Amino acid sequence: MTVIAQKEFAARRKRLLKQLAPNSLVIIPSAQELVRSRDTHFPFRQDSDFLYLSGFDEPESLLLLDTSKPAQMTLFCRERDKAMEIWNGPRAGLEGAKRDHGASESFAIQELDKRMPGLLANRERVYLPLGADAAFDARLQSWLERVRSQSRAGVQAPTALEDVRKPLHEMRLFKSAAELKIMREAARISARAHIAAMQASKPGLHEYHLEAALQKVFLEHGSRFPAYGTIVGSGANACILHYINNTAALRDGDLVLIDAGCELQGYASDITRTFPVNGRFSDAQRALYALCLKAQLAAINSIRPGVSWNTPHDVTVKVITEGLVKLGLLKGKPKDLIKNGAYRDFYMHRAGHWLGLDVHDVGDYKVNGKWRPFEPGMVLTVEPGIYVSPTQRAVPKAFKGIGIRIEDDVVVTKTGCDVLTGDVPKTIDAIEGLMAAR
Ligand code: GLY
Ligand code: MN
Ligand code: MN
Repeated sequence: MTVIAQKEFAARRKRLLKQLAPNSLVIIPSAQELVRSRDTHFPFRQDSDFLYLSGFDEPESLLLLDTSKPAQMTLFCRERDKAMEIWNGPRAGLEGAKRDHGASESFAIQELDKRMPGLLANRERVYLPLGADAAFDARLQSWLERVRSQSRAGVQAPTALEDVRKPLHEMRLFKSAAELKIMREAARISARAHIAAMQASKPGLHEYHLEAALQKVFLEHGSRFPAYGTIVGSGANACILHYINNTAALRDGDLVLIDAGCELQGYASDITRTFPVNGRFSDAQRALYALCLKAQLAAINSIRPGVSWNTPHDVTVKVITEGLVKLGLLKGKPKDLIKNGAYRDFYMHRAGHWLGLDVHDVGDYKVNGKWRPFEPGMVLTVEPGIYVSPTQRAVPKAFKGIGIRIEDDVVVTKTGCDVLTGDVPKTIDAIEGLMAAR
């Protein structure tokens, strides 16, 4: 299994520090454990920025970088604790943080309030995820207050707090070779999971049976968690964009929309496929599916370096609007229906988003007020959809309650883009063929 090497983490830290004001500190707290119910917690998920810079996967930690020592990293973390480790498993501890996780210095997290004022003294700026956590911001203010209280002894407090996320998220937008290798692996696992769900589908099962089929493949390949809440929406549930109940029975003649992707070493994959519960598309389903696929393929085809972020979205809007007019779901001239936004009754979201450590990954979509151009190494999803609500007026009955989305993950290359999630079928023939061959 590919892992991010310690030297890549060190290089990321150096690259970040180079962009910051001299004599400044970077402070990034870890994520916290969240109670699910009384004594049980949600599975711990490290903060993505913390993970990107350190790979360190423990709660109750804080990462500290110093622009004047770009090769070093200080970790505040939990100390080893025999009793706690019997219950909850091993901790890196102060020694492990240095030995195994690239820290040059480590302190117990309990010493944070004691040590931070001294570390902040006589610094120019502090870079942190400003405003991300009000309690942490308040804690930082209390440290700064203590530094300021020493002003008569000649100690200067930092005069500016800056959001570290601006430069950091720009770095995260461009994936390294090692990151792409992990993302390809995550995409391959998710593709297999979608195939398993297609193979398992039949009328009478419930949506959660397909969720189970996906989850089994994720786990069998070492992905412990989905990158986001799995969506299995059959029939009109497919028109609910973030449907996660997954409790309805699968009905003969309906489509089922599955939006699911595994997380691997923190990296997300994000695939949507829509297929008939019984393996055969009806005429109305076929018509809308073919249109959605045409839009998705045209959008993927438009992606290459230099092309604007918004181009694939515009392409999907054009193809879908023209197609809906031809099918009689929209009436008027496509140009006008695009201008007045009438297509949004059927296609109300954007064609994609950045993908990486977060499923809706970080990175600006606009630079200087303009949609940014694609560059090699960016990873994004392409996911047009067509949703005909059961209550939608003035559409032929056969189309009502059909929801379709087709989503793939792509990486921008030097000459175009490469689809990471191509292993899972998406043409009508390939889906029907796969489901007939069970
Ligand atoms: N699964 C979330 C999304 O597709 O954006
Ligand atoms: Mn997506
Ligand atoms: Mn998705």
